[in-house]
Amino acid sequence: MRSLIDIQELSVNEIDELITVANDIIDNPAKYSEKCKGKILATLFFEPSTRTRLSFESAMFSLGGNVLGFSEAQSSSSAKGESVADTIKTVGYYADIIAMRHPKEGAPMVAAMNTDIPVINAGDGGHNHPTQTLTDLLTIQREKGRVNNITIGVCGDLKFGRTVHSLIGAMSRYENVKFVLISPEELKVPEYIKQTVLEAKNLEYVETTSLEDAMPELDILYMTRVQRERFFNEQDYIRLKDSYILTPQKLEAAKEDLCIMHPLPRVNEISVAVDKDPRACYFRQVNNGKFIRMALIMKLLEVK
Ligand code: NCD
Repeated sequence: MRSLIDIQELSVNEIDELITVANDIIDNPAKYSEKCKGKILATLFFEPSTRTRLSFESAMFSLGGNVLGFSEAQSSSSAKGESVADTIKTVGYYADIIAMRHPKEGAPMVAAMNTDIPVINAGDGGHNHPTQTLTDLLTIQREKGRVNNITIGVCGDLKFGRTVHSLIGAMSRYENVKFVLISPEELKVPEYIKQTVLEAKNLEYVETTSLEDAMPELDILYMTRVQRERFFNEQDYIRLKDSYILTPQKLEAAKEDLCIMHPLPRVNEISVAVDKDPRACYFRQVNNGKFIRMALIMKLLEVK
């Protein structure tokens, strides 16, 4: 059975197919309402979540399936010291597919090695978040009508932000995408991503600390939260947390058809005054997350 641990495991064709199915689900939801009848999704969340867990659950219910799981490590036997491997072997008897979030990088991969049912990585530490990226790609396609020929500014915590890592990996495979990486010096994109993705593929990218300088050329601005839970000390977090705050004033320099995205949760990095701007796409992005996850669940369960 196939799992989804890293977005690179899907070909561009497969991603495009998922986007097509998600768009069809949005247009014809009734057609899909019994596709996963009798199937069970387990959501195993060892870290906090609102959108990812609830959109997975809503997705499975909308496919006619059922859901079980836990939303904090403390309420599972992991609090008693059980290994991920043993937890997963157990859940493999009770469910048909697993969505798992864990603070340790690689935990969903270990899970996939210990069960025959598909495991979806719903975020592993500061590493990857492939289903957020699918959500992001569906959003870009719906908002811009294309994923190619795009200048995307990614702003905030590019070091610990797992959504950013997966998004760069995925978008690097589309044509003529230019990345503007906007972050404080301490929170730049990890060297391994620059080497294995951006430089290995000879992609066009610039690194800058200035959101204002980057703004005028962007087609997409992808804002992110500074990832407090990954910091080693609170002083560093406090010093860096408000590095970028998007306001209506700053948007005066932006393109008229800019698409402002954010995986959410937002802390301070987008002023609520921006929400009224038609260029603010982040709540439409939340909505899209459910439909692309429906498409993914069907694909991994091999539902026609
Ligand atoms: C993101 C995550 O968990 O990585 N949230 C999400 O899934 N939408 C982003 C974040 O927590 O900052």
